Amino acid sequence: MIGLDLTINGRSVRARVAPLTRLLDFLREHQGLAGTKEGCGEGECGACTVLVDGLPVVSCLAPMGQLDGATVTTIEGLTAAGPGLDRVQEALLDEGGTQCGICTPGIVMVAHALLAANPRPTLDEIRNALAGNICRCTGYTAIYEAVYRAAGRAR
Ligand code: FES
Ligand code: FES
Repeated sequence: MIGLDLTINGRSVRARVAPLTRLLDFLREHQGLAGTKEGCGEGECGACTVLVDGLPVVSCLAPMGQLDGATVTTIEGLTAAGPGLDRVQEALLDEGGTQCGICTPGIVMVAHALLAANPRPTLDEIRNALAGNICRCTGYTAIYEAVYRAAGRAR
């Protein structure tokens, strides 16, 4: 077991965990943050994506032993300041970009990282950013349109 200090959704957290504990499991089982989903468990689908120090990371492949001092943001952290959905979530609902919802938290987190780095992305840039996020339900077009809308670029 090792001791770690992290910031999770703006909250200081002191953890004592086995170093190979997956960040995904730490969030869901130790922190009660079940908004982060597990799809493949192998780094292929993007469903488990969270932000670590502002960048998207697949939490199923992130061992806790590498995260001392990290700042982690999950889907719950996007709306921690108040009730309601954030702009990407709202746009996904408006565009029909979510169905079963398993892929949705990961897509929202990647979209946030993209919009933070590039507030006015093109549809191609959105497609590229989300290339690692698999959705088995929507056919993708509504997801890309939703991120475009969230960027204030609705057509
Ligand atoms: Fe982590 Fe699929 S569950 S990438
Ligand atoms: Fe079901 Fe994307 S909404 S996998």
